[in-house]
Amino acid sequence: MNNNPVGVFDSGVGGVTVVKAIQEELPREHLIYFGDTARFPYGPRPLDEVKKYVFEICEYLIGQDVKLIVIACNTGTAAGLKDAQKNFNVPILGVIEPGARGAVLATKNRKIGVIGTKGTIESHAYDEAIHALDAGVEVKSGACPRFVDFAEGRGGQDGDILEVAQEYLYPLLDAGIDTLILGCTHYPILRDVIQQTVGSSVTLISSADETALEVKETLVRRGLLNDGKNHPHDKFIVTGDRTSFLTLSQSFLGRDISKVEEAV
Ligand code: DGL
Repeated sequence: MNNNPVGVFDSGVGGVTVVKAIQEELPREHLIYFGDTARFPYGPRPLDEVKKYVFEICEYLIGQDVKLIVIACNTGTAAGLKDAQKNFNVPILGVIEPGARGAVLATKNRKIGVIGTKGTIESHAYDEAIHALDAGVEVKSGACPRFVDFAEGRGGQDGDILEVAQEYLYPLLDAGIDTLILGCTHYPILRDVIQQTVGSSVTLISSADETALEVKETLVRRGLLNDGKNHPHDKFIVTGDRTSFLTLSQSFLGRDISKVEEAV
């Protein structure tokens, strides 16, 4: 048993979808969420720069005595997971490998689609993770940068999102995919419109849900679960504006957050 918190971080509010999934899977755990909102978005940045941020935030969270870190950002995972695992002693999980595993288990025709930020897609991290599990799977990927804006309510009129979704997703459907990985932590917010666009025959894989399962398995196997004697308390820390984070994260989480702190 270990009652220290689990650290979760993302470039902004998107990783809150992973917090929600972890809370559902592991309701006794204390969580610390770090949103690097001042440097959002990571998606268009060079991966080396994002890796530097990943290292800084891991150091910060380790300073808060976390027992496990989740890089709840696909771009951050693509840029920095492997090197962070080599550099730090706490267990560090990303969101790409769990999503890839979920998709390989779900596909029947072995044609998997992946959508994510430009950084994630151009890193080919999903292709590698999928092929490490099944080298015969065909992967068709596409960057969907405008989805992040829509998830944050900055995308425009409701009508537009359907058009944008069709533009992004139809080429993947043309490739015959039967499974689609939502390879960005913002995308679970758009699950309904994505499902409507690809149709019910395509299985959507949320890396948030798959990652929560992996967090659980890791804590169980390492004997690190919280003993549940204290009510779980979560802490939200951001590098940018607290008010906008609060509004958005509450809508992502579907419940109220009492307090958001600024990183010092
Ligand atoms: N949350 C990030 C991810 O999962 C996307 C947003 C960003 O560009 O920072 O890749």
